Amino acid sequence: MSKGVFISFEGVDGAGKSTHIQGLADAFRQQGRKVTLTREPGGTPLAEKLRQMVLNDAMDPLTEALLMFAARRSHIQEVILPALAEGHVVLCDRFTDATFAYQGHGRGFDLAVLSQLEQWVQGQASGDLLQPDMTLWFALDPAIAAERLADARVPDRFESQPLAFFAQVHAGYLARAEAAPHRMVRIDAAQSRHQVWQQLTQALVRRGWLSIMVATPTALNTP
Ligand code: TMP
Repeated sequence: MSKGVFISFEGVDGAGKSTHIQGLADAFRQQGRKVTLTREPGGTPLAEKLRQMVLNDAMDPLTEALLMFAARRSHIQEVILPALAEGHVVLCDRFTDATFAYQGHGRGFDLAVLSQLEQWVQGQASGDLLQPDMTLWFALDPAIAAERLADARVPDRFESQPLAFFAQVHAGYLARAEAAPHRMVRIDAAQSRHQVWQQLTQALVRRGWLSIMVATPTALNTP
């Protein structure tokens, strides 16, 4: 059985992750890999309930951070680790970088406390922290992301934040990328969807996870 691969996707709201993640899931399946496509907060029945609360109900920053990590714990134990053990490619729409970017840099919550929670929740028997093998960061000027999001849907507690909040979130992702340059791959999300797709597949081919460049899915051929 092939070894499991854990890939997360990050970026400010409106950066355009979703369609690409679906396309990559199809590409991996076409190359014979089993894929677990999942998201945070969410991915288990319990974590999806926590998602509804954290996206919609008012709460203080510590409660928000604890709920993110509670949802993550359930997700890791019930979905991510079992899928990796089965050799799946796990494609996860957001993971802990989002907590550092949104709760840490966006809300201004204590980064040291977040690191401690990360140790508790992602600590393994081996002593290592569970981290994605690769994080594809859709880097986009928050002003452009806000424009893209404007008419898209009814905003949740995060999407309704002002531009200044997303500027902080973007700075948070930048700090995470600088601290983990081998794990985090910066994708220029201001480019056309076709070009973004090419950046993504190139990164995955370079690591040997996709064997050849795959054609751009029809859904991504429009600008
Ligand atoms: P989504 O819309 O990409 O599914 O993400 C849900 C929202 O939750 C998004 O605005 C980012 C936010 N979020 C956090 O604030 N902290 C986290 O740890 C995660 C995973 C998401």
